[in-house]
Amino acid sequence: MSAPVINGKQVSEDIRGALREEVERLNKLGFTPGLAVVLVGEDAASQVYVRNKEKACHDLGYYSEVHRLSESTSESDLLALVDKLNKQEDIHGILVQLPLPKHINEKAVIDAIAVEKDVDGFHPVNVGNLVIGDDSLLPCTPAGVIELIKRTGIEISGKHAVVIGRSNIVGKPVSLLLQRENATVTMCHSRTANMKELTRQADILVVAIGRANFVDASYVKPGAVIIDVGMNRLDNGKLAGDVDFESVKEVSGPITPVPGGVGPMTITMLMQNTLIAAKRLRDQA
Ligand code: GUN
Repeated sequence: MSAPVINGKQVSEDIRGALREEVERLNKLGFTPGLAVVLVGEDAASQVYVRNKEKACHDLGYYSEVHRLSESTSESDLLALVDKLNKQEDIHGILVQLPLPKHINEKAVIDAIAVEKDVDGFHPVNVGNLVIGDDSLLPCTPAGVIELIKRTGIEISGKHAVVIGRSNIVGKPVSLLLQRENATVTMCHSRTANMKELTRQADILVVAIGRANFVDASYVKPGAVIIDVGMNRLDNGKLAGDVDFESVKEVSGPITPVPGGVGPMTITMLMQNTLIAAKRLRDQA
């Protein structure tokens, strides 16, 4: 029998419905959460992501600013814009779309974003707070993974979670969040020896290695929960996850598809972070 498919689109719509209601309530009190997105250059995928973020703001009643800058923008001009947005009272969240052009130091730009407006959760202070378990703005995709697992009614506490991939954006933070939820966590990556021996012990397997269809049924313990964070564009233009969905779903437990699994959760978590940041800034004002 084939495994249940985790519907990330539906979960995402449920959360967005609650966000929309909360923003309506705040609007009536004369307060509107605001998100600024900065895009430098012409990267095609980035343009799509930024349009989707703009649309989400519009759909949920947030104030939105999108700053589209030319590829040749200097680092100092970009830093000046970030500084202006840091001080702007109607902006509560700032997201600089990555990757940036090669002549710009990504780290310098991330470090310049005000910690309390860092809705990507990439600033070192927010990363540090995540590590020590203090309140912080959480990175969107990892937060979306945890939310998706919980809202599917899956218990994380006491489970063995295996994460494949150790990126700063997904693998590392998702492993910390799983630990925070009381899972026992094993991390695997491209140099891990005998990876299958480890993944076959996983009750929850999170895959974020960036290789199309990398995980097949031979990596999976029967009944395991499979969360596929991969988004790989194939030569034929189709989107593929890091998990070979067709073979894995025959042995696994609940499994996320690509598209329609983790993907829709990322922008939803960005909108949730922006609302959290907005309320904190309002309460501090
Ligand atoms: N580019 C791809 N994913 C992301 C993300 O989550 N945040 C930002 N800022 N850029 C990205």
